[in-house]
Amino acid sequence: MNRRVETAPWWRRGVVYQVYPRSFQDSNGDGIGDLPGVRQRLDYLAWLGVDAVWLSPFYPSPMADFGYDVADYCGVDPIFGTLADFEALVEDAHARGLRVVVDFVPNHTSARHPWFVESRASRQGPRRDWYLWRDPAPGGGPPNNWLAHFGGSAWTLDERTGQYYLHAFLPEQPDLNWRNPDVRAAMHDVLRFWLDRGVDGFRVDVIWHLLKDEQFRDNPPAPDSDPRHGPSRALLPIYTTDQPGVHEIVRGLRRVLDEHARRGDRPAGRRDAPVLIGEIYLPVERLVRYYGERLDECHLPFNFQLLQLPWRADAIRAAIARYEAALPPGAWPNWVLGNHDHHRIATRVGPAQARVAAVLLLTLRGTPTLYCGDEIGLRDIEVPPALVQDPYERSCPGVGLGRDPERAPMPWGGGPGAGFTTGRPWLPRGADAATVNVSTQRDDPASMLALHRRLLALRRAEPALAVGTWAPVPADGDVVAFVRAHEGRRFLVALNLGARLQSLWLGPARGGVVLGTHLDREGEQVFATLVLRGDEAVVAVLE
Ligand code: GLC
Ligand code: CA
Repeated sequence: MNRRVETAPWWRRGVVYQVYPRSFQDSNGDGIGDLPGVRQRLDYLAWLGVDAVWLSPFYPSPMADFGYDVADYCGVDPIFGTLADFEALVEDAHARGLRVVVDFVPNHTSARHPWFVESRASRQGPRRDWYLWRDPAPGGGPPNNWLAHFGGSAWTLDERTGQYYLHAFLPEQPDLNWRNPDVRAAMHDVLRFWLDRGVDGFRVDVIWHLLKDEQFRDNPPAPDSDPRHGPSRALLPIYTTDQPGVHEIVRGLRRVLDEHARRGDRPAGRRDAPVLIGEIYLPVERLVRYYGERLDECHLPFNFQLLQLPWRADAIRAAIARYEAALPPGAWPNWVLGNHDHHRIATRVGPAQARVAAVLLLTLRGTPTLYCGDEIGLRDIEVPPALVQDPYERSCPGVGLGRDPERAPMPWGGGPGAGFTTGRPWLPRGADAATVNVSTQRDDPASMLALHRRLLALRRAEPALAVGTWAPVPADGDVVAFVRAHEGRRFLVALNLGARLQSLWLGPARGGVVLGTHLDREGEQVFATLVLRGDEAVVAVLE
């Protein structure tokens, strides 16, 4: 490997794997995944070939939103284990060369967090201003028209003090007041607490929500809003999200990470500064502002376009080009194909196109984030109404907004517990768990898991596919094509997003196939015209 690649920070060359701890591996038979379970599966992640594990929240929580309602930022919920379990997990991960990124949920706490308990106790208390309290509107009712993401008003009246508090999500998730310097200081200390325990970075929950309009103005109605996209979409969130002042807050978070790295507090062998990843759902032109004018905000503002676009070649070609063009100089791109909030890729595009999608995710320029289970082509599960867990499904039943389907336990093998638990899993397993599981696919060289492993190994072996440049190759119809290049090594990636035969004109370029979704063309010479079968993607090294 050459020098430039070695010196690129891991979060540029590497692949992030999201673990939803509740659903990854249960170690004690209570049907809920936990940290000792994740620890048991580190060998699998190292074998798979990813570089970092991002853990969704494992902090003490009443679990109103399955851990995104934090009651103590510096602990581990007993359901997930102990702080000692976390420390052992970090140590074991590092011993395998895996980085650990933790979820940081700064926009809101749990209503049971001691800060909120104190805040709501009286209007005069020292922590009153840590949250957003307002008087009722003249004549009664919520102070303004703001809507909560999961439905209803974003304001809940607290009878005891006669004021409303703001919550962008559930009433059990009151929003912190980030204009208060004490809140900032307390949250910076939380980052330091985990940095001192050796974490390699943070994925910051709803980072673009942190600041709200100081005058609490009403949001305007959204023209043509579609209730299938969520109840809060009825209004344009111009006063509740992406406020100009939020960038200063993000810079403040970044400074804590950079200072920690500069102080040399990183444990031995961890030379890279910790990474700051931001969860941001915005159009790309506004998204890229979260890199910061001096690249002093997020290292990776999550790019969710592949979760949201229709799966069509023209849409994807345009989105890649638009994103590449929007990136500020020096900013490093990233791509996300799945997470715990969206229907799984194999359900959205079907199993054959999910293989094409895997090639796309792992060959585009930018850090890929892979959601646990997508590497085996796991599909959404059907959740009968009686088994619904997600509060979003409860508040908007039957619309397809609920997130239980993509949160099913990881099927490691067949059998009733699917190797996930010896007990009763918190969500049912999929109907296809007998075949769509890790142990079956591990031994099948044509499986989705084998494809992921091959792609991850190729990325690791070929810096062009990790840190190389990107250039589009003119294509039409169902084809998306581009070239990745680094220090004289060039790779063509050609993907057929449709089910029919397609051809791609290569001009004078020639090369040899190194990998394809069908895993049967390796070594084939390509020149003049590359023919792609339906649902096929190939990677070829160019001469
Ligand atoms: C983020 C999380 C989601 C959670 C919400 C509120 O979008 O990914 O799961 O419900 O924030 O914390
Ligand atoms: Ca458990």
